[in-house]
Amino acid sequence: MSAFAYRNGVLHAESVPLPAIAAAVGTPFYCYSTAALEAHYSAYAGAFAGQDAGVCYAVKANSNLAVIRTFARLGAGADVVSGGEMQRALAGGIPADRIVFSGVGKTREEMRAALQAGIHQINVESIPEVEALSEVASSLGVVAPIAFRVNPDVDAKTHAKIATGKKENKFGIDYDHAREVYAQAAKLPGIKPVAIAVHIGSQLTDLAPFRAAYERVAALLHVLREDGHDIQRLDLGGGLGITYKNETPPDLADYAAMVRSITGNLGCRITLEPGRSLVGNAGILVSSVIFVKPGLHRRFVIVDAAMNDLIRPALYEAYHGIVPVTEPDPAALKEPFDVVGPVCESGDTFALQRLLPPLGADDLVAFLSAGAYGAVMSSTYNTRPLIPEVLVNGSDFAVIRPRPTVEEMLAAERVPDWLKA
Ligand code: LLP
Repeated sequence: MSAFAYRNGVLHAESVPLPAIAAAVGTPFYCYSTAALEAHYSAYAGAFAGQDAGVCYAVKANSNLAVIRTFARLGAGADVVSGGEMQRALAGGIPADRIVFSGVGKTREEMRAALQAGIHQINVESIPEVEALSEVASSLGVVAPIAFRVNPDVDAKTHAKIATGKKENKFGIDYDHAREVYAQAAKLPGIKPVAIAVHIGSQLTDLAPFRAAYERVAALLHVLREDGHDIQRLDLGGGLGITYKNETPPDLADYAAMVRSITGNLGCRITLEPGRSLVGNAGILVSSVIFVKPGLHRRFVIVDAAMNDLIRPALYEAYHGIVPVTEPDPAALKEPFDVVGPVCESGDTFALQRLLPPLGADDLVAFLSAGAYGAVMSSTYNTRPLIPEVLVNGSDFAVIRPRPTVEEMLAAERVPDWLKA
């Protein structure tokens, strides 16, 4: 199902024509579909329905409160990586006992806040971290339920910047060290190892690396149990990749069957932390063409969105589909354009030599598959205000984060007295 489709020649989000949203909020803006968010979540929950498994939405993919709330209402837990994300998850209605706190560098303040909230699990990534957690937990008189994130040294076959499971990556404890690390941790006051966690990377479109990692985790589980640890849960990390261009990610049913084949007899509850696959194709970024700039060597479509709004192409050479909001005549000749934003960097390029139908100034275009790692990674570079986020639900839409004015941006800054004279 795509929530974004042409109807009567105009791209709609569910039943809302995108030009209506553009008229109400201006461009550029992010637009998310409730139906798509719900469908993606239900597909995950449904695929794992027969297993003792829970979905903890990776809030980092899209942390808007309304998005979190949409998942919370369906029973989701959350995977968070900062105190701020934990506050968001709680504010979005996800109970603390369904929240997992991940990340390689938690501060003591974050640990304290998580323990005080009654967090479900803290995924720890080093001995210094578990020692700090032990001190914090002891000072609060509580026991921290922990997993160690193990680094299984598996090649995730994804973009190097989002691969996390090789031994040279900063994440997790070395697989071959895990037995020793669990033993050390179990002796610490205020620490109870209850789980093993693994996450090898994002945008994985092949089951093989997942399988390799999970098999290593299952083998470790046996060893840890023999050593007397009461491990009851396995946290299997992020979810499947999505289709941006022509990738064919595995079926959720096949993924769930693979997980069952490895973990089905282990008597462990499974935690899944999908982010991208829940929100990526539930969102688009809508932008206006400012100019079409002819040149001797290249022609450029200059749009009003820029790398500060959607950084994935600049950061990872990521591909995002680009379509006009007005349905093009199928007979119209497509020609190659570079699609660029107004920021003063050559890296502010969304697409090189993309074949596009004729476009002119003020035309609306949509960047597809932008619901994950889009708005959350945006900045105000070039004093470009963060762009609005809009949530569609059937024929309704609501602004779920308004566009700040430049005055509001300036008001957040301070000029010291010595500069005022
Ligand atoms: N769990 C952990 C511990 C993670 O580090 C991540 C993502 C996830 C779950 C969610 O993974 P997903 O289901 O979304 O694949 N900014 C990059 C992606 C960074 C992913 C970081 N970790 C991008 O735009 O492609």
